[in-house]
This record gives sequence, structure tokens and C-alpha cells, in this order.
Amino acid sequence: WPLMAPYIKAINELKRERNAVVLAHNYQTPEIFHCVSDIVGDSLQLAIEATKVKADVIVQCGVHFMAETSKILSPDKTVLIPDSRAGCSLAASITGEDVRALRERFPGVPVVAYVNTSAEVKAEVDICCTSSNAVQVVESLGVDTVIMVPDQYLARFVASQTDVKIIAWKGACEVHERFTGDELRTYREADPDVKIIAHPECPPDVIAEADFTGSTAHMINWVRKEHPPRVVMITECSMADNVQAELPDVEMVRPCNLCPHMKRITLPKILDSLIYLREEVTIDPAVIDKARRSVERMINLKN
Ligand code: 13P
Ligand code: SF4
Repeated sequence: WPLMAPYIKAINELKRERNAVVLAHNYQTPEIFHCVSDIVGDSLQLAIEATKVKADVIVQCGVHFMAETSKILSPDKTVLIPDSRAGCSLAASITGEDVRALRERFPGVPVVAYVNTSAEVKAEVDICCTSSNAVQVVESLGVDTVIMVPDQYLARFVASQTDVKIIAWKGACEVHERFTGDELRTYREADPDVKIIAHPECPPDVIAEADFTGSTAHMINWVRKEHPPRVVMITECSMADNVQAELPDVEMVRPCNLCPHMKRITLPKILDSLIYLREEVTIDPAVIDKARRSVERMINLKN
């Protein structure tokens, strides 16, 4: 990436000067993922790492709910997001008020929130989950029914893996809901040996056609382990680019869908973020305290 080299150099220098770390999600573009990040991962890995950061400043290369999660877990740090407009259709689909209304409608039923939610929503729920631990989180509650918000498709996927009854919200990821089972069948007909792996935010007919379903980190690990000659990653486009750089002999069969929110984060914006210490993520301390309980309850399950 020759045109980007000056940005990469400047960012890496400023990180040292500012005592900053860059946490990047698996959907960040390769120049961010491979050249300026200190820690990369899925939502769960990034949340766990946010509890361990020693640096003064966290630059979150991902979407806004991920930066909020870092702030919730490291409230004394300066948490920056290079573009605060980097939202998420799932996080936008539910408010704290909606969760309170669900509790009134289903008294006593615990509420599990996907981390793809605002801090305000995390503050209202019993526990968080990510796509890599959702079944474990639901089963950890020891009840026969739970409410899962906001992703209807993740909820359906979890319901297919457990006996716990799931009451779902109606949100969806604008990137993953666009894939269809028909589309997957077309790839398989064209190339019967191709492997197809999908994120659990995809609709059920897509998951039914996939050889493996898992979080972004689980998808990467699956490709590392199985090392298929050709694979379609039914998820955001940068995943295939990032895995391709690591495993050049695995052919990444397109298509993929772009997440416009993730793509708001660019090298020039990361540089500005470090120069001007912007845009700082702030959350009401009372909300942080309540939200931290739900996030930590999830993280502690893992340990
Ligand atoms: P993961 O936790 O699997 O990385 O997913 C986050 C996300 O936003 C997927 O669309
Ligand atoms: Fe949200 Fe979907 Fe983008 Fe992930 S890919 S950040 S779930 S809109």
C-alpha cells in the first residue's frame, strides 16, 4: 500500500508518543488490520482486551458500540473512535426504553443483549453476549426462557442450538440479512467442492446452506484449521482480505457485502484521531456502572 505508507508511519509514531493502542475489529481494511493495529479480533476478544489495556489512550477501529464497550470496561482511559458516525443497524434497532417495555411484558424473564447495542441498552439487561458465546450465555442463566435482543437471526441460530426458549427482538444486521440461501446454492452448484462459512447474523436459510457458522474469530480459526482450497466467507468483505493476506494459498471466492459503518474508519481519520485526540467516547458514569455489570458477567463466564 505505497500511498498509505506515510499514514502508517505517522500513526505508529504517534501511538508511541500518545501512549495509545489501536484495537481493530476483523472487518477493518487490511492496511488498518495488518499495519497499524496492536490488537485485532472479534467483539468478544476486543472486549476482553479492553479490560487489560495499560496504555492511556484506546483508538477503537470498529463501530461505535465497540468503542462504548471499551469505555465501559476501561472508564479511566481516553477512548477514541476515528469517526463517531460509524453506527450499526442492530445497535440502532433498540433503546433502553424498549428493554424496559419488554420486561413489563415478560416479567421475570432475563434479558440477554448482543454486544451490538448501545451502552444505554447494556445498562438495562441482565447479561451481554457476542456471536461467539451466545449459546453458552443463554444456557448459563439456568432458566427455560430468555429474551434475546436485538438480532432476530442470532436469536434463531441460538434457538436451533439449545432447548432454552428464546423470545427475540426484530433487529437485523443490514450487511448479513442481504445474503440468501439461493445465492449460496448457486455457488455450490458452480463448484461442489467449495466450502461456505457464514456469520450467525445471517438469515436461517443461509445458515442451513453453510458448512460452518460462527463469529468472525471462529470463522478465521475454521479456515486456518481446515485450510480448504476454496472458501466463501458469508460476511463482511474485509474478512476475506485479511485472511487472504495470512493464507495466500486459500482461494477466497467472492461475494461479500460491505459494512458502510466499518468502512468509515480510514487511515487519515485514525491519524487525525491521534493528532487531535478525537472523537472521544463519553458515557454517563451511572450508565457505565450498570452496563459494566452485564458485560463483565459475560466476560467472567469465559474465565
Ligand atoms: P463478531 O463478534 O463475530 O466479530 O461480529 C461483530 C459484528 O459486528 C458482526 O457483524
Ligand atoms: Fe453492525 Fe452488521 Fe456492520 Fe456488524 S456488519 S457493525 S452487525 S451493521
